[in-house]
Amino acid sequence: MLDMTNQFEKPFSQACENNKTAILNVLLSAFSNSRKVLEIGSGTGQHAVHFARHLPHLMWQTADQYEYHPGIKQWINEYPSANLMPPLTLKLPETGLPDTEFDAVFSANTAHIMQRSEATWMMQAIAKRLPKNGVFCQYGPFTFDGEFTSQSNADFHAHLVQSGYGGYRDISELKSWAKPLKLDEVIDMPANNHLLVWRKS
Ligand SMILES: C[S@@+](CC[C@H](N)C(=O)[O-])C[C@H]1O[C@@H](n2cnc3c(N)ncnc32)[C@H](O)[C@@H]1O
Repeated sequence: MLDMTNQFEKPFSQACENNKTAILNVLLSAFSNSRKVLEIGSGTGQHAVHFARHLPHLMWQTADQYEYHPGIKQWINEYPSANLMPPLTLKLPETGLPDTEFDAVFSANTAHIMQRSEATWMMQAIAKRLPKNGVFCQYGPFTFDGEFTSQSNADFHAHLVQSGYGGYRDISELKSWAKPLKLDEVIDMPANNHLLVWRKS
């Protein structure tokens, strides 16, 4: 999907290599009191192997649609961590969220790929399932009061919609779906992306 290629015989995303350090810098603090993270839409698995290795105090549960599992497993086999779990099958809303316990959620670049109804379901389900003090870190491109943060983001949104994907979601609609989660932090990230830190108080 998108920029994933079969470089090095595994699925590979250059974007993940580019953004993983900036994201990790936020997760180190946002997930400092978390114990188990559910990752929604692990993609290649590159984020999971990097973050699990640098956040050894927590369990990192990968999850994605079944066709992504072989690639995620390849990355995990090559860069194993005792705290990194093989992927669960996740296709929202059909599969629902896994029954396993988690007190944190991470999801990168999923809301604009999902259909609007799927993104709505995801936000509502995370809000419902996270326990008190639970944290949801959501990375990606978003619009703010209907405005794109760059022309390249506007162009990419148009391309996504034309290709049948849901397209960019606005921060205001995410907020309305995520209630009672509170959007505590909106952090600027490279390449006109943002990291949203949602908390349940
Ligand atoms: C652009 S990729 C992002 C992958 C990875 N998180 C990253 O940042 O590179 C979008 C991901 O969203 C997942 N996805 C899309 N729709 C989904 C749905 N309805 N339920 C679960 N995952 C979904 C895809 O399977 C894919 O892994």
